[in-house]
Amino acid sequence: MDKFSRREFIYISASLPLVFPSRSFAINVEKNYPIISYPDTIWVLKQAFKSEMIAHKHYVKFAKKALAEKYPNIDYLFHAFSFSEKIHADNYKRIISKFGSNIKNNLVSIDVGDTKSSLLKAAQEELKKIEKTYPEFLKKLETELCEEAIINCMYSWKSHCQHEEIVRTIQRYSGLFFGSVAREIEGVNFDFHVCEICGSTIDEEPNSPCQICNRSMSHYKKVGRPA
Ligand SMILES: [Fe+2]
Ligand SMILES: [Fe+2]
Repeated sequence: MDKFSRREFIYISASLPLVFPSRSFAINVEKNYPIISYPDTIWVLKQAFKSEMIAHKHYVKFAKKALAEKYPNIDYLFHAFSFSEKIHADNYKRIISKFGSNIKNNLVSIDVGDTKSSLLKAAQEELKKIEKTYPEFLKKLETELCEEAIINCMYSWKSHCQHEEIVRTIQRYSGLFFGSVAREIEGVNFDFHVCEICGSTIDEEPNSPCQICNRSMSHYKKVGRPA
């Protein structure tokens, strides 16, 4: 039987939790990387960090606006997703620091409209990450095969893909039927739990290891509702 290539091994490792949910494949997080060998990887990590921080900051503002407009569940939804985006950003920041590279903390201007426009903008950006941004990042990472970068990019991509169906529904109906979409969200009783390793976000109590990173369910943290 042919041996796996290194590229195949890394991709299979990142997907193993879905294939063998009872096993855990930890990655070596202590390693430091020589900066000169990974220019494309560092570029991707910095772009991914920036993109996740922008999403995080937008969702914090969108949440506040939703609460002001008396949509407490939409406020909570944005709050939970801002938490998940920060985990993705922090993962990239940690890996970038292993290269001895710095991150510029660019100021981001955030325009916040009403909650209807927040939902539509968030859905548009989420779908862009699922369909374009992360597939392109992962393609670019293939040239240098830094395992930790690829696995964390896979974690982020998969945790965004977790919500593809609901995001598409929000995008399809929020334009013409925002009132119905808002009523639907406000009528549901949910508690979000976010995996602190990979950012997986679920709307019920976890009862098994994380489906994305396969770490124990103890890594899921319940997201409190904003006061
Ligand atoms: Fe993210
Ligand atoms: Fe996870």
